[in-house]
Amino acid sequence: EWALVNRMQWVAGFLPRGEDKSLEEARSDNERAVVIIIVVMGVITLVRCVATFYQKYLAEKVVQVAIARLRADVYRHVLYMPVGFFSAKGTSDTISRVVGDTATAGKGIKILLGKALREPMKAFFCLLGAMVLSWQLTLIFLAAAPPTVACLSLLGKRMRKATRRSLMSSARMLGRLQDSVSALPVVKVYNRQDREASLFGAVNRQFLRRTLRMAKVEAATQPILEVLGMIAGSAALVVGAHWVFSMRGGMEGSEFFALLVLLGTSAESVRKASDVWNSVQSANAATERVFEVVDAPLEKEDPEAFVLPPLRDRIEFRNVTFTYPQADSPALRDVSLEVQAGQTVAIVGANGSGKTTLVNLLPRFYDPDAGQVRIDGQDIRMATLVSLRDQIGLVTQTVATFNDTVAANIGYGKPDATREEIIAAARRAHVHEFIDTLPNGYDTMIGEHSTGFSGGQLQRIVIARAILKNPTILIFDEAMSQVDAESEAKINEALGDLMRGRTCFIIAHRFSTVIGADRIVVMERGRIVDQGVHAELMERCGVYRGLYETQLVAAR
Ligand SMILES: Nc1ncnc2c1ncn2[C@@H]1O[C@H](COP(=O)(O)OP(=O)(O)O)[C@@H](O)[C@H]1O
Ligand SMILES: [Mg+2]
Repeated sequence: EWALVNRMQWVAGFLPRGEDKSLEEARSDNERAVVIIIVVMGVITLVRCVATFYQKYLAEKVVQVAIARLRADVYRHVLYMPVGFFSAKGTSDTISRVVGDTATAGKGIKILLGKALREPMKAFFCLLGAMVLSWQLTLIFLAAAPPTVACLSLLGKRMRKATRRSLMSSARMLGRLQDSVSALPVVKVYNRQDREASLFGAVNRQFLRRTLRMAKVEAATQPILEVLGMIAGSAALVVGAHWVFSMRGGMEGSEFFALLVLLGTSAESVRKASDVWNSVQSANAATERVFEVVDAPLEKEDPEAFVLPPLRDRIEFRNVTFTYPQADSPALRDVSLEVQAGQTVAIVGANGSGKTTLVNLLPRFYDPDAGQVRIDGQDIRMATLVSLRDQIGLVTQTVATFNDTVAANIGYGKPDATREEIIAAARRAHVHEFIDTLPNGYDTMIGEHSTGFSGGQLQRIVIARAILKNPTILIFDEAMSQVDAESEAKINEALGDLMRGRTCFIIAHRFSTVIGADRIVVMERGRIVDQGVHAELMERCGVYRGLYETQLVAAR
């Protein structure tokens, strides 16, 4: 009986109090409590999960949005940088900074957002608590702070350097890849796949080495800090234990224990926060590289630049001398040239004589070191870049098309052009019949490397683009590629149509183009050696005769 009573009492201990309730009621109360607990737990879990989701997602979103904006800003900056920047530095380095380095910076920022506040705060409050318990022991422990800071700064520096070097390798790798993939036919026909593979292998290994160096610094940081914390903790422990046993410091065992826990927690927080420091340094190296692009100067425009009215009278080059940024000798020496509005000037000369350089001064891809380029008596440096370039149509030596449809490529300079206008321009460029035969007509994609189009066809598409823009000044830098006779005739017809009623600079390799010009300018080693019409030059200019007999005729 006693046993039974005992057991009942034991069971009753678990039941809700309330003497008047029957066992039945108590049981249903119990069940309700369980249900309530489950529901409350469920709600709490749900809220926590939703909060965790948003915390993670929002942190990532903040970082990704920031990086996307940075990328957009850098790219916008790149678009307004001078052409010369890329001829000196190449394109792959800038591309990898815009794409890769911004991503590395983002990774660092993300870690910064996660723990940068929490862990140092925790360490701070733990130390505060420890101070209250025993400032003496805390100070002994804090003796480890200067070496910790020194260590972190040293490791941070290494991290920064390692990141910088790894990003440089990554850019180099991208450059190699771009180089070899775009020249794949050449690689194949010379059977140099092995060479390309071994060259790529070398940069790849370098990249790996440098990335592993980053990993090494990263991996070494926490153990080093742990050892430091351990030494500091032991020092505090030895002194503290002495105090506790002798009761000289007036410290009780329980207090001492609490102190140790607080100090240990603060050391742990510092250790956890150490990878934040490393990531910050890593992000630092990456953003430095990104901001080298952002800080690169933009194209110069006079703050009081005026809007250049359409060309009416003449274009002058006055004693122009120009040296490329990395070159030793000038590409143009004391060049003077006057062109009346509406004239067509053909520029001839051997390769490297400065023809392209001369015409590139007109849209201000470069500015002369000495002398001036003037339009209607005004130095073009005083005009806004937009108003200057609005007047200029440019067909470059290497035919430039975009990975888009034929129609979009023709309409590139006039975004609001109607389909009719585009077709009219294509007709005038003698390329409409060809486009008509394409499976998708004007909606055919030209593609990244314009495969499936011949040089002559692409050139006429680009001429159609210039016709549609209807510029007052036209620069035509003839491609050296040997187009067939029919293509040449068509290009010449297209060119004739394009030149009508404009001021034209035609860099010509073919005699058929030169002969129709109002004036022929002969260049040699950066100088204009003579100018005049064909017959005059044949008579008096040895350089021209030489060109005529070899290059110009041979190109036919
Ligand atoms: N971006 C550049 N950077 C440095 N030198 C260049 C650059 N472009 C051309 N040059 C040099 O300037 C000279 C003139 O080149 P260019 O005007 O292209 O000649 P052309 O068009 O008559 O063949 C050449 O000696 C060439 O090597
Ligand atoms: Mg050229």
